[in-house]
Amino acid sequence: MDARLQRRVQRYGWDKAVDDYEAGWRAQLEPAQSLMLDMAALRPGERVLDVACGTGLVSFRIVDAVGEDGAVLGTDISGEMIEAARRLAAERNIGNARFERCDAEDLCLDVEPFDAALCGLGLMYVPDPVKALEEMGRLLKPGGRAGAAVWGARAKCGWADIFPITDARVASEVCPMFFHIGTRDMLARSFAEAGFTDVRSERLEVTLIYSSDDEALAAAFRGGPVALAYNRFDDATKKAVHTEYLRSIAAYRTGEGYEIPGEFVVAAGVKL
Ligand SMILES: C[S@@+](CC[C@H](N)C(=O)[O-])C[C@H]1O[C@@H](n2cnc3c(N)ncnc32)[C@H](O)[C@@H]1O
Repeated sequence: MDARLQRRVQRYGWDKAVDDYEAGWRAQLEPAQSLMLDMAALRPGERVLDVACGTGLVSFRIVDAVGEDGAVLGTDISGEMIEAARRLAAERNIGNARFERCDAEDLCLDVEPFDAALCGLGLMYVPDPVKALEEMGRLLKPGGRAGAAVWGARAKCGWADIFPITDARVASEVCPMFFHIGTRDMLARSFAEAGFTDVRSERLEVTLIYSSDDEALAAAFRGGPVALAYNRFDDATKKAVHTEYLRSIAAYRTGEGYEIPGEFVVAAGVKL
């Protein structure tokens, strides 16, 4: 897919997903976000960049880690995500978190270098993840730490058929390279290629728990990357994709709900 088109699909797709994102994914992504934060070992007073910040699930945990003397700048390609994060910061009276709409591959920010830069569950959507990691490195102080979490291997993610089911009904694939960056040692290699040293990476197997068909469908179709395509489907197409998706996760049914396997890869590195 053309990189410009991919960015537009992401930007306007996540705009559509904003209201359903946290309900569908907050609990499911928490283990990967926690491992990324542990590996970054943030300290009070540090200034941290959070790339592809979404509604700020990671940004607000960074605020807790760096305290009042520290600060976080969250960036995301989706204007609606940035507005949601700003709203949440205002509601929570958080004065040291700022949010700006930026493409991860072009962080056109005029700011002091950061102590750490993180990207939680964002690199699968970026046309050139190495360029995004280079941008994070460019904005780090020498010795600054970078961290990223991505979904792991396709075969380990029981919900993966959401993509072919959606792609079969749209003109161009929604996330053409989604599982590439989490395959084998791709994430660690991307960190090294982007110039980071002391690169470490870990795999994490998880279970995604949904209590009903509706919950599983809302997370998959309304709260995630296929939301733009899904919103354009007519009712008959929506019904058809629901049936196909539920069939694809039927093996993970437990009572009324689902326990779907998933895998993450989390990596960290240091700027020379
Ligand atoms: C799964 S959400 C992750 C949000 C947050 N980091 C978290 O852990 O909850 C993915 C985010 O990546 C953003 N994104 C997708 N492509 C992007 C790009 N090229 N540049 C910046 N952000 C992008 C989306 O807008 C979305 O908010």
